[in-house]
Amino acid sequence: MNMTIVIDRNALIAAALAARERSYSPYSKFAVGAALLTSKGEVFTGCNVENCSYGLTICAERTAACTAVAAGRREFTALALALSGGGTPCGACRQFLAEFSPNLPIYIVDADAPGKIMETSLDVLLPGRFELPT
Ligand code: THU
Repeated sequence: MNMTIVIDRNALIAAALAARERSYSPYSKFAVGAALLTSKGEVFTGCNVENCSYGLTICAERTAACTAVAAGRREFTALALALSGGGTPCGACRQFLAEFSPNLPIYIVDADAPGKIMETSLDVLLPGRFELPT
């Protein structure tokens, strides 16, 4: 049986805000949450996970993407990102997400003012992503 699960923008944003609550960020004290919607209507979430060896830190977006891929999902239809003051995904996360969904719609919510949503997309944020020559 084919089932379409409809997740609206607000539900995806709520999932990103909830994921942000689980951030492990004792060093930067900057909590980030991400929620990735798949083409099947499932939501995979992630938060940033820091380490005392600072460079090992993993961003929320990549945590969410790795969780989804490990569950066998590679088709993403939207990303919601929750962080204080708004802000856009870092360059590494842009390239990482573009591997799967180069045109991914992105909703960014200011965790301090959850009514403030910015809409953008990965093709706007990352023109000219790296690709291996064919
Ligand atoms: N961070 C993310 O989780 N996603 C981004 O796109 C940018 C930065 C995290 C990494 C680090 O734990 C904290 O935010 C401050 O840089």
